[in-house]
Amino acid sequence: MKISVIGLGYLGATHAVAMAKLGHQVIGIDNDQAKVASLSRGKVPFFEPGLSQALAEVLADGSITFQQEHNQHSASAELHFLCVGTPQQPDGSANTDYLFAAIRDLAPQLSAESLVVGKSTVPVGTASRLRGELAGKAEFEPKLVWNPEFLREGTALEDSLTPDRIVIGAGNRSDAEKLLQAYKPILDRGTPLVEVDVQTAELVKVAANAFLATKVSFINAMAEIAEASGADAVALADAIGYDERIGNKYLRTGIGFGGGCLPKDIRGFVARANELGVGSSLDFLVEVDKVNQRRRQRVVELAKLELGDLAGKRIAILGIAFKPDSDDLRDSPALEIARMLSAAGAKVTVTDPEALAGVGDEALTTEPDVMAALSGAELVILGTEWRQYRDLDPAAAAEQVATKTVIDGRNVLDVSSWQQAGWCVIALGRNIDNG
Ligand code: UGA
Repeated sequence: MKISVIGLGYLGATHAVAMAKLGHQVIGIDNDQAKVASLSRGKVPFFEPGLSQALAEVLADGSITFQQEHNQHSASAELHFLCVGTPQQPDGSANTDYLFAAIRDLAPQLSAESLVVGKSTVPVGTASRLRGELAGKAEFEPKLVWNPEFLREGTALEDSLTPDRIVIGAGNRSDAEKLLQAYKPILDRGTPLVEVDVQTAELVKVAANAFLATKVSFINAMAEIAEASGADAVALADAIGYDERIGNKYLRTGIGFGGGCLPKDIRGFVARANELGVGSSLDFLVEVDKVNQRRRQRVVELAKLELGDLAGKRIAILGIAFKPDSDDLRDSPALEIARMLSAAGAKVTVTDPEALAGVGDEALTTEPDVMAALSGAELVILGTEWRQYRDLDPAAAAEQVATKTVIDGRNVLDVSSWQQAGWCVIALGRNIDNG
């Protein structure tokens, strides 16, 4: 099928490549000339394992092209996927302006046969406003359905090609027919299909992210209790996770969630619930956000407990991206901690295999080499659990630092081997006996 994908950020670029991998003819559209040029050259503008290689393949076989504006070529697509961003506004609500701008550009290109498919994360009710925007623009009634995306950074392509479910919100089945056809290779493998109304489809996405955020903040709230009572939140998570109704995923305690989705989506959801007059239904999400923010603050408190006045103290932070296998720094817990420590006077050096280029903060020293980053540190903080930091040789690391104290912000270090190498190990949610 001929498909256009509008908006080539994380979601759009990955979705465009995934659709081409499924055998479709894809036209990626973004008004950012640099993005279009980069993707056309086979360069993905962000770090995502496997995506560059897949892009090279689909560029080579001619199944994907990129352009800045609609033209006859893109207008003849049967499906138009809306993948533009919905960033957070100062009041917490989601900004849907890019979506409305995209639909206004797209409207003149539509035919009676074309189907518009919304994939962006939106406040419930947006699709019906978009339909309103399209209404009256043509002699026919343009078809618009909603199809949320659940890909995670770091495993984005795999998640797109082998999703655990496909959710489609359409007014009626015939509207969704073309989309079902496009996803046929995925659906034929037995992937569950959930067909709902358009509002439910919009809600599924934010509800899923809200649940995930709640799970992380739940275990981090338990970490606060554990710290106050002498218990161990990692062992607690392990123990409760054996109950299948609870499950052990998303119960990793540490410095909390960040990224371009979970924090923004819970705030946007709260703002939308307020607009709908049911704000109190999501009061708990305000607390989820607060627990998450407190974990970042806790690391600063722990650093002060160790070092006293932070002025001039040398602190090394291992990992600055919001999660491993990503160079995304949006709302990164590790980066915010680095900034808070620096604001308190510490000399902070950050290292990361992929994300350093985006730091751009003069107060922070960036150092790509982990051993050089550790050199002379009076405190080490593990901020992002990249494999290379989990597997770091504690004896070799010990030789670099001035003081062998590490705060494990992600609870991934092997405590006994670090202690054997002479380290004092502090971890969130645990009361580790360092002898
Ligand atoms: C999240 C969702 O997981 C995806 O399903 C969704 O499609 C995506 O947002 C989106 O809305 O586009 P992502 O932002 O890539 O995906 O990251 P996650 O893997 O969910 O991790 C989010 C944050 O939670 C990270 O900072 C991670 O370190 C933290 N986290 C995760 C924990 O602190 N503990 C855990 O147990 C799990």
